[in-house]
Amino acid sequence: MRVVITVGGSIIIKDHDYKKFQDYASVLKSMAQEHQIMVVVGGGRTARDYIGIARDLGASEALCDDIGIEVTRLNARILITALGDDAYPRVPHNFAQALEFSTTGKIVVMGGTEPAHSTDAVGSILAEFVGADLLLNATSVDGLYDKDPNKHIDARMFPEITPQEMLGMLADKEMKAGTYEFMDKTAIQIIGRSMIKTVIFNGENPENLKKAVKDELGTVIMPNK
Ligand code: UTP
Repeated sequence: MRVVITVGGSIIIKDHDYKKFQDYASVLKSMAQEHQIMVVVGGGRTARDYIGIARDLGASEALCDDIGIEVTRLNARILITALGDDAYPRVPHNFAQALEFSTTGKIVVMGGTEPAHSTDAVGSILAEFVGADLLLNATSVDGLYDKDPNKHIDARMFPEITPQEMLGMLADKEMKAGTYEFMDKTAIQIIGRSMIKTVIFNGENPENLKKAVKDELGTVIMPNK
């Protein structure tokens, strides 16, 4: 299968050390024996810190986004470093480049592309662009909940959901640099139109990737339900 994986910065750069990158690299290498893998890495707290500094200096939202993108690309470079020869050595800056780099058979790792969305949207556009069979979204919680599970103990996780239902949940949320919700609107709209099967799952343990690819955990977004 051709699989696109988005890894939230809040997971991979959380502890500010090499370990998570190394663990992710080892799982990705083993998955690449069987599947064609493309990865999109988020910015995490580092991106939010930099965006905060730029905003305090009076930068526009688009400029703040652009600074966030630089951080996601930096994280992508670190994952490429961890993957060594198994990864294409450069970070693509757009989808055509990502597709081109993937023809080498290497794992392609990218960050953001342009302002006004998160790396979740990059993942869904990339999945559509390259005709992926599956989109895996690694987050810090077990799946998609009806409310924030870190704040509400009665939060309920959806085993399955449609893009339409997700958009309904996002209706009143704001879109600002560094604060795109559990998945931004662009990401959900693309998943809806491209009909790419998507799984949101807990990526704190990289081994979960192997289960997510087999549908064994998380929330499945069913575009054609
Ligand atoms: P992230 O995708 O990491 O955003 O990109 P996030 O919603 O904060 O996700 P987590 O918490 O890491 O999972 C960091 C920021 O970079 C900008 C946005 O401002 C985003 O919030 N960005 C990223 C873009 O503007 N365009 C992109 O293509 C990617």
